[in-house]
Amino acid sequence: MDGNRRWAKTVGMARAGAGHRAGADHLADLLRWLEFRGIRHASVYVLSADNIRKRDRDEVDHLFRLIEELVPAWLEESDEWQLHIAGDTTLLPESCATALENAVSATAGRRSHLTRAIGYDAKQEVVDAVRAVLVAGEHPDEAAITSRLPGGPIKDIDLVIRTSGEQRISGFFPWQSQHAEIVFSNKFWPAFDEHDLDLALREFARRRVATHPFRS
Ligand code: IPE
Ligand code: MG
Repeated sequence: MDGNRRWAKTVGMARAGAGHRAGADHLADLLRWLEFRGIRHASVYVLSADNIRKRDRDEVDHLFRLIEELVPAWLEESDEWQLHIAGDTTLLPESCATALENAVSATAGRRSHLTRAIGYDAKQEVVDAVRAVLVAGEHPDEAAITSRLPGGPIKDIDLVIRTSGEQRISGFFPWQSQHAEIVFSNKFWPAFDEHDLDLALREFARRRVATHPFRS
């Protein structure tokens, strides 16, 4: 969900924080569009561990407050999505981490799965999973490591959409995205609309048909 600050600037907002709020609110729109299309598994990049370490304190604090305020509100908006968190929540203030934990337990058992990457570092995630396998005394093969990764029940990602014109992966679930199609959108995240989603889905379908023309 990239491009909040640039979007705020383009629409003439004085502060980047307003862009972050618009971006956070916009996730609810995306989830409605996915639900309408029968897509039941989604992962979003909210905040990397690096973002937390490197961005201005004020901006990071604002992002934490937004998460703490909006995640519980989101619970009431829809009963469709079960929340999963990927990332190191010890990097977050305690009240923010608690709000997330509560939302994870309050949404348990819902039929669709949303993974939010918060305080996320891709390599650390794999290291942690390998460690968990070893601590359990298991052989660290692919299946054992995959099963220790955080997130919803389906680990393989089909389609990655990156907004804002950047064409980098920035450590977005690399283990899970091994076979993913990647679509880059020039829209800033808060301006990414339902039509843009359909363009990405159409592009995904086109490529899959091109790669596997005879698969039913
Ligand atoms: C994405 O928007 C949100 C976060 C990474 C927290 P940005 O803050 O990266 O906005 P741009 O990319 O500077 O426009
Ligand atoms: Mg950015």
